[in-house]
Amino acid sequence: MRVNAVRCRICGGQLQECLDFGRQPVSNGFIRPEHVDREHYFRLAMGVCVSCTMVQQLEEVPRARMFHADYPYRSSESAAMREHFERTAAKLIETELKAPDAFFVEIGCNDGIMLTTMSAAGVRHLGVDPSARAAETARANGAHVEVDYFEESSAARIRAEHRPADVVYSANTISHISYIDSIFRGMDVLLAPKGIFVLEERYLGDIVANTAFDQIYDEHFYLFAGRSVQTMAARFGFELVDIERLPVHGGSIRFTIARPGVRRLTAACRDLLTQEESLGLAALETYLRFRARVEHISEELVTLLRRLHADGRTVVGYGATSRSATVTNYCGIGPGLVPFICDTTTGKHGRLTPGSHIPIRPAEAFSDPYPDYALLFAWNHADEIMAKERVFRDRGGKWILYMPHVHIS
Ligand code: SAH
Ligand code: TMP
Ligand code: ZN
Repeated sequence: MRVNAVRCRICGGQLQECLDFGRQPVSNGFIRPEHVDREHYFRLAMGVCVSCTMVQQLEEVPRARMFHADYPYRSSESAAMREHFERTAAKLIETELKAPDAFFVEIGCNDGIMLTTMSAAGVRHLGVDPSARAAETARANGAHVEVDYFEESSAARIRAEHRPADVVYSANTISHISYIDSIFRGMDVLLAPKGIFVLEERYLGDIVANTAFDQIYDEHFYLFAGRSVQTMAARFGFELVDIERLPVHGGSIRFTIARPGVRRLTAACRDLLTQEESLGLAALETYLRFRARVEHISEELVTLLRRLHADGRTVVGYGATSRSATVTNYCGIGPGLVPFICDTTTGKHGRLTPGSHIPIRPAEAFSDPYPDYALLFAWNHADEIMAKERVFRDRGGKWILYMPHVHIS
């Protein structure tokens, strides 16, 4: 067993190294061409805790390198995600935020994709996010946002300046936070006695089942599963009470956490925990097999791209996702095989993908002229993008996907 010197960030237990993607850049570090020598690299390796089963990174990227005023990701670029968060907000308003003075706090609110619904419904709310530019958009759309990192100190300040929160909600953010002990101490200060903490994240079970290796990158410090989150909540004085699987982002999961004894464990929660027992999510062999599948995908993808290139076919990337950093850097895909990637996010245009240095162009470049093939990095938005880009296929264009295996569609 290869035990790492680094200890588990949740329980201090021993970490068994299970995956290594080598030298990788900051995934949202889209760079200007003149700054290619300023990139930060780290070893992207995962370990599984032999005590609490939490899967986590062995080497950490400092938070200020990832999340800062100019963090480029914008949640609202996807119509499907806008609908998802509108629905989620509407459900919380109906069920948990009925009291006239109910208070809703969101950790990692980004451009206000969720908070605008809260604001429109007149719900008292506050978002916390260090991405100042994204927060400007949220504020312009009527949301209250504090530009800060959520942690124990900011939670105490929010509690003092406002009131205890009935719901603290967070999507695709808590797994990005290595200092999770501080989050839970903050939760203890901020959450009302009967309040709930709801978090939505990529699900480790789906990552393993789909060989979705590109879900592993700097920001996804933890890969959550039912059991590891249950243990984590208990360790920090809380209780996991509900679990819901979600189809978004290629397989997500929503956890509801409360203070102990406040809510009954739901049947869905118990069922998922039981189902997980047979998935081997804490077993080293699971990741050795995963690793073999990743190598196969990588070889097939590069072979396909090289063949298309040799045959004179044009290939363009679609969606400069953070995940594409792992794919391009691990597989060794650069501008020679994929000359550019189109993306709707204006803050990414004119920049290069981190490490692999593929130029990013506006979505309009896709049809000017259409390529023969499009490599879909934003595979989690496949339905939305393929519907939007129907003409591409109508004119004979083909999509290349690499999840759960390399195929042309
Ligand atoms: N919730 C949105 C955004 C996810 S991106 C969605 O699901 O689409 C992750 C966001 O978390 C970024 O906007 C980033 O700035 C923010 N973030 C990172 N660390 C944080 C922290 N400690 N406290 C609050 N927000 C944080
Ligand atoms: P995500 O998978 O992390 O949400 O990132 C998706 C990326 O793809 C983001 O940079 C926005 C981009 N995108 C498009 O360019 N066009 C689209 O239609 C959608 C849905 C996303
Ligand atoms: Zn542990």
